[in-house]
Amino acid sequence: MTNDILKVLISQQELHKKVEELGAQISRDYAGKNLMMVSVLKGSVVFMADLMRAVTVPCEIDFMSVSSYGHGVKTSGVVKIVKDLDIDLKNRDLLIVEDILDSGMTLNYIKNMLEQRGTRSIKICTLLDKPERRQVDLQADYSGFSVPDEFVVGYGLDFAERYRNLPYVGVLKPSVYS
Ligand code: IMP
Ligand code: MG
Repeated sequence: MTNDILKVLISQQELHKKVEELGAQISRDYAGKNLMMVSVLKGSVVFMADLMRAVTVPCEIDFMSVSSYGHGVKTSGVVKIVKDLDIDLKNRDLLIVEDILDSGMTLNYIKNMLEQRGTRSIKICTLLDKPERRQVDLQADYSGFSVPDEFVVGYGLDFAERYRNLPYVGVLKPSVYS
């Protein structure tokens, strides 16, 4: 598995430090609020599991799973809900936890949809951001690292469902997918 990695982009130590920083910032911002952390499956599971333990204020967690309509590798922007949230969103301060913000189309759709369910607030926390790839006007409220436009895997991120269990974020060798 590690033979398929061109280089380590973000080490375990760097990930740990950043997650602690984000957790502290979120804990300050959500003191006295009704924090509910929502993980978009599956890429954000590893980040979510670490981030929630770096948060020191009371919080609920929930998971949702979506898939893009249409074919091809590019996100279409229209998503189908494969697994919806279980918890009612009324009066909740939602924090959507994502692995990577790329075109932003998926997250834009999810955010607009959840906003209509009586939430008190919705913010976005993404571990990685590829700002130059953005196709909609969407910014993360909390962002771990800006990454170049290369395909990255590990720490939850996959290529064809593999490499999610790598403890670091690495650049995949182009020979793996070309
Ligand atoms: P978008 O922002 O709607 O274009 O899609 C974001 C989703 O695309 C993420 O949640 C990832 O699942 C996937 N994605 C985008 N860039 C990468 C990458 O470099 N590695 C792995 N998955 C990626
Ligand atoms: Mg993915």
